[in-house]
Amino acid sequence: MVFILAATGSAVGLGNIWRFPYITGMNGGGAFVLIYLLCVFAIGLPIMVAELLIGRASKQSPALAFKKLGGKNGDYWQYIGWFGIIAAFLLSSYYSVIGGWTLYYIYQSFNWHMSDLTKDHALNAFSTFTADPATQIFWTLIFILIGVIIVLKGVKGGLEAFNKIFIPALLLMIVLLVINALTCKGAWDGLMFLFYPDFSKISGETVLAAMGQAFFSLSLGMGAILTYGSYLHDKESLMNTSFVIVLLDTLVAVLVGIAIFPVLFAFGMSPESGPGLTFITMPVAFSNFGTVLGPILITVFFMILAFAALTSSISILEPVVAHFVDKEILSRKVATIMLGFLIFILSIPSALSNGGHDIFSSKNFLGRSFMDFADFIVSDNLLPLGGFGIALFVFFVLSREVRRYEVPKYYGIWKPLLLIAAFAVAFVYLHKAASDIPWLIVAVILVMIIIDLAVISSKQESDKPLEPHELQEIKEARKLEHENSNQDNST
Ligand code: PHE
Repeated sequence: MVFILAATGSAVGLGNIWRFPYITGMNGGGAFVLIYLLCVFAIGLPIMVAELLIGRASKQSPALAFKKLGGKNGDYWQYIGWFGIIAAFLLSSYYSVIGGWTLYYIYQSFNWHMSDLTKDHALNAFSTFTADPATQIFWTLIFILIGVIIVLKGVKGGLEAFNKIFIPALLLMIVLLVINALTCKGAWDGLMFLFYPDFSKISGETVLAAMGQAFFSLSLGMGAILTYGSYLHDKESLMNTSFVIVLLDTLVAVLVGIAIFPVLFAFGMSPESGPGLTFITMPVAFSNFGTVLGPILITVFFMILAFAALTSSISILEPVVAHFVDKEILSRKVATIMLGFLIFILSIPSALSNGGHDIFSSKNFLGRSFMDFADFIVSDNLLPLGGFGIALFVFFVLSREVRRYEVPKYYGIWKPLLLIAAFAVAFVYLHKAASDIPWLIVAVILVMIIIDLAVISSKQESDKPLEPHELQEIKEARKLEHENSNQDNST
């Protein structure tokens, strides 16, 4: 149970409350949501099982996990882990900027006068805030510092235990917002936008965006879930665990959509307003609660959001810190501080991407602002490619015995689904990349390398039963773990 809450704490974050609504808004609503749901269950779920499996079977941080389980080609497979490390750096850099926004909004919520919180006020407040370079950098830094202190102090466990309160609190808050939204005048239009699928709005772009959002929101493809898997107890079913995480994460995203779009339509705002969507709509939604309750609720909301962002952001840092510590390159303390510093440097261009500085805010980076570009590299490239690698690795490289041992119950359904998911990812990815020749070339090369590696490794490894001593090792590790946890429970 604690495990599920911890992994859900990683999954539920800005991806659900900040990214899902704005990406849905930009991609036309209903049809996008439908494809998103399909991606979550048909692609995300089997890949989550695979990622947890690699973690649990190896008990290592990502790159070392691939190396350990990858047999003769482990040295090559570990680059999938490295992909994850690069993704984590880039992701943390802009994630921290948005995390900083949540902190600023908590601070700001004490100053808001709900009676004059009109849509124009909320819009102005947001664009003035994001256009101020010093404020952007300051709040980003504070967010990174809090994360670094939590990792350094080793209170991560305590924080995860707090998920017991936080996840129900978050759900309660969202349900309150949903009720508020449904009583808005334009509620119906908002719901139609969110759920009525207009298939004429679907393109390769939409499908890739939906898949990228599924990977982002479920924390898949970069080793975060793998790292959680390495702590997961042997008794837990990977399939059930994954299913609960996926369900909770999706529930939060969809409910947030229901809480936001009706308000948006009721106040005549555009669903296409981009990354500011949640930060503009939420204050307006809370103004409906009056001048006493409104300010209290808005403060609580942004506190919950900041907490959600922090637990996710720590889960992004953790595999990278673990990598340097496991390889005995750096101590935990030095790794965390250095990582925090590098992320801060890397976050500056993203912090200046929403009006803070012309170079980063204009579409200079493959037709995107710097922040959108970083997000494109992570969500539309590295995470899906990581997921593809994970799926092929588990399918072709791991021996049947390990797979069956880890997924005893739904093996027959999960295994073919995993292969289908892998090829769906590759298809969607390459199809979209075909719109841009340089991107296509890079994409084809990367996909081919992963496939080649899988084919070569499978010839050597597949269906080769585990050496008796290897199997024995796994079993003994498991036994030890059981004993330890029994001791923990009895003390
Ligand atoms: N899933 C997290 C969110 O929704 C973000 C995340 C992505 C965390 C990848 C870890 C790894 O905010």
